[in-house]
Amino acid sequence: MDISAKHQDMTTVLTNVIVLGIFEDDKILNPVQTKTDKALKGIISNGLIKTEGFKGKYSDTVIVPTQLKIPADKIMLVGLGKKKEFDCSKLRELSAKIIKQLDKTLNIKNVSIEPLGLKCGNFNIQECANAITEGILISTYDYDKYKTKKNQQQIKKVRIVLEDAKEEKAAKTGVNNGKILCSAMDFTKDLINEPAQNATPEAIAQIAKNLSLDLGLTFDVYSKKQLAQMNFNAFLAVGQGSEQEPKFIHLTYKPTKKAKKKIILIGKGITFDSGGLDIKPANSMLTMKTDMSGCATVLGVIQAIAALKPDIEVHALSALCENMPSGKSYKQGDVLTAKNGKTIEVDNTDAEGRLTLADVLTYADELNADEVIDIATLTGACIVALGQNITGIMGNNQEMIKKIINIGKKSGENLWELPIFDDMQEMLKSDIADMRNTGSRYAGASVAGRFLQNFTKSKNWAHIDIAGTAFIDKPYKELNKGATGVMVRTLTNYIMSL
Ligand code: BES
Ligand code: MN
Ligand code: ZN
Repeated sequence: MDISAKHQDMTTVLTNVIVLGIFEDDKILNPVQTKTDKALKGIISNGLIKTEGFKGKYSDTVIVPTQLKIPADKIMLVGLGKKKEFDCSKLRELSAKIIKQLDKTLNIKNVSIEPLGLKCGNFNIQECANAITEGILISTYDYDKYKTKKNQQQIKKVRIVLEDAKEEKAAKTGVNNGKILCSAMDFTKDLINEPAQNATPEAIAQIAKNLSLDLGLTFDVYSKKQLAQMNFNAFLAVGQGSEQEPKFIHLTYKPTKKAKKKIILIGKGITFDSGGLDIKPANSMLTMKTDMSGCATVLGVIQAIAALKPDIEVHALSALCENMPSGKSYKQGDVLTAKNGKTIEVDNTDAEGRLTLADVLTYADELNADEVIDIATLTGACIVALGQNITGIMGNNQEMIKKIINIGKKSGENLWELPIFDDMQEMLKSDIADMRNTGSRYAGASVAGRFLQNFTKSKNWAHIDIAGTAFIDKPYKELNKGATGVMVRTLTNYIMSL
C-alpha cells in the first residue's frame, strides 16, 4: 500500500473516499471540513451530523455515498472522542480501524484522509502523519507465505491531505519514518512466524548475513567450534541435544560521524523450545517456534537504525540454537561453567534462555558499550504477571528504564517495570555450584532477571521480557494476532532519542 502526504485542496482530490474526524466534545467543522461540506452540498453538517446524529464518539464511523464524482464518491466520518484524550496511540489504533473498514467497503482503491485531530490532539503534524502511517501499515500485515490463496488488498493508495504547504515537509518525515519502522516490524514478524523447520540457527544466520550485506553492516558469525574456544559453555549446553548446529551472530551498525554512544542489543534466539529433557506439555510447545522473537526483534531494530542513520553505534547479538531432548541433551543436575567463569547447576532444562543470554552478556562486556539491552521471550511468569499486551522490563538503572517505558508509551507499546532485588539471588542458591538456573515458583520473571544480572558488568543494563507480547492470540489495538514485532518501535525510537 502506498502512503503519502501532500498539500492539496480537499475539494479537488478526486478520490474514492474522503476521511474526516469529528471530536465528541465539539462537533464544529474545521475550515477544511467546512469547505468539503460545501462542495458536497451540506452532506456532513446537515446529512450526517444533524439528520443522522453522528456524535463523534471515539472509533464510531459512518460511510455514505456522496452521489458525486468530485471530489469523492464516498465520505467517511470518524469519531475522535474527547479532545483531551486523543493522542498518538488513539490515532494509530483508529487509523487501523478505518483502513480495515474501508478495505471491506465496495470499490475503494484510493483514500484521502485529513491529519485527524491535528489542531486539537496532543501531537504535531510529524507525529500525526507517523501515527496514521504506522496504524495503517501495522494493521495490514498478513502472514500468507504458506497460503496457496493469498488475500488481496483492495486499497492501493492513501494520501494524507494537508491544508498548509508548510506542513508538508514534517508530514513526509512522519510518513517516511513510519514506513521504515513498519518494514522493520514486518521483517521481524515474518521471521517469528516462520516455522522452526525453516528458521533454523543456520538459516537465521544466513538471513542476518544477507541483511547486513543489503544495509552495509558488519557481520560476524561463530560456529560451534569457535564458540567452544570462546567459552560459550552455557549456550552450547542448551544446543547440544539438537541436530541443528548452534550459531552466534554479531551485527554492527557504525555511523559515518563519530558515535555519540555505543549500544548493545541482545536477542534470545531459541529457534525451537521443546523444554529439552524437562519437556513441555504439547500445548505449551505449540508456539515455541517464536522463542527466537528476541533475535528477530534486534535484527528488525538494526534494520531500522541502518535506514535512520543516527550517530549511535549499535550492535545486535544473538545466540541461536534449538532446545531439544535427545541422547546428547544437557541434563538436570549438570554443572555448566559460563563464559565468565561462574558455575551453574542445571535445575530445569526448560530455563534455557537465560543460559544462552548469560554467555552473550559476558561477550557484550568485552565490547565496552554505554548501554546493554537484552530482549527475550524469557518467562511464563511474565505472562502471568502482565498478560499479552504489556511487556516486562527490569534492570539496574532506573533512569534508563523510565526513559524506555516513556518512549514505549509514545510508540504505542506498553511496558511495566518488574523489580529485581539483590537478595533474590538466595532463590538461585545451589548446593554444588555458584547458582542454579531456576528459583522457586514465585516471582519467576524477576528471578530470571536476577540470574542474568550475574553475567553483566554493565551499569546500564535493561532486560525486556516479551514472552507475553511477542506473539498474541487475540488482536490488540492496531496489532493483528500472531507475531507482533513488539519493541521494534520502542527500541528504535529509544536509540534515536539518545
Ligand atoms: N520460552 C520459555 C518462556 C515462554 C513461555 C515464552 C510461554 C513464551 C510463551 C522459557 O524458555 C521457559 O520455558 N521458561 C520457563 C522457566 C521455568 C522452567 C523456570 C517457564 O517460564 O515456565
Ligand atoms: Mn524454555
Ligand atoms: Zn525458551
